[in-house]
Amino acid sequence: MNHALIEILADGQFHSGEEMGSRLGISRAAIWKQLQKLEAMNIPLHSVKGKGYRLPEAVELLNLESLKAHGFPSQKFTSSQLELSVDSTNNRMMSVAEGNVSERHMVLAEMQTAGRGRRGRQWLSPFARNLYFSVLWPFSQGIAAIQGLSLAVGLAIQRSLKEQGVPHVGLKWPNDILVNDGSACGAKLGGILIELTGDMSDACQVVIGVGLNLDIQAKDLTQIDQQAAGVKQLGCQFSRNAMTANIVRHLCEVLEQFSSQGFAPLQQEWNDNDALRGKPVKLILPSSEIQGICAGVNAKGELQLQTAEGLKAFNAGEVSLRALNEHEG
Ligand code: ATP
Ligand code: BTN
Repeated sequence: MNHALIEILADGQFHSGEEMGSRLGISRAAIWKQLQKLEAMNIPLHSVKGKGYRLPEAVELLNLESLKAHGFPSQKFTSSQLELSVDSTNNRMMSVAEGNVSERHMVLAEMQTAGRGRRGRQWLSPFARNLYFSVLWPFSQGIAAIQGLSLAVGLAIQRSLKEQGVPHVGLKWPNDILVNDGSACGAKLGGILIELTGDMSDACQVVIGVGLNLDIQAKDLTQIDQQAAGVKQLGCQFSRNAMTANIVRHLCEVLEQFSSQGFAPLQQEWNDNDALRGKPVKLILPSSEIQGICAGVNAKGELQLQTAEGLKAFNAGEVSLRALNEHEG
């Protein structure tokens, strides 16, 4: 796809086919074809007769040059792709992973048409406002070696946001990035989706997907069935390219450490940033619920709950953690 056309439209102003054609040195018919391709990708374009085409608002597009200028660690990856629209960046990396590669790859997208959370839940992924990316990272010691990985990734993002001045960011076991908005649980700023392929007892490929809300608008909130927030709504100013580069740098640093040492060295820092620590919570298991006081995670990254029967540890899997409301418990 020709990024040059979308770069013209990124200012949110109207541009006629003629103007875009002369700026890019191609015919109006060629511009029209490209606009049709953008529409086919579900990129939201407004067209008004006599005025031309525009995006609904000005956006800062991701750009590899700008990412690199902000310290994006492209040397850590065999490939770093930047796409305008994909179904899911995790799907994209899973198909690379199925080739049994032993290199690291990553993909960033401006939007996803089928962004996913855990258990196939939808992840809202509007165009050019948030951050959606997936990293393919090979692990040589099988599935056992990745216990606690989603916690390590969350911590990398939390470190980055903190460094960039985003206030009150916390973590929720096992895969959520939250911001303390005064509610019992906090509002969801981002999430992590980890998927695996390969030999679960030996060399396996892990796809780590990250969705982070940078600008979540009122119309988005009507489509999300829980409290959500974006970095912009917290009053922070940022460049999407600078923020992305910083996050990926922190992520690589943590993944390199995690690959050799596992979760244990990160346990204390994760617990210090646990949004639910010391709070009454319920853990929703496939066929039952357990209530207790959130007691942080152990060195393996398992959730510890202080229950009526003593301290119990739980593995991430088909379980969901929720803060208890005042009237529960
Ligand atoms: P659990 O604790 O059960 O894993 P979860 O909140 O982490 O719950 P997931 O299945 O991991 O749920 O994530 C998908 C959920 O995230 C959706 O059900 C929706 O409520 C919410 N969601 C979807 N898009 C966004 C978004 N852009 N920002 C915040 N939350 C979103
Ligand atoms: C969660 O539910 O909390 C996890 C959400 C993960 C969303 C990201 S966006 C990039 C990557 N691609 C996907 O389809 N999902 C992850």
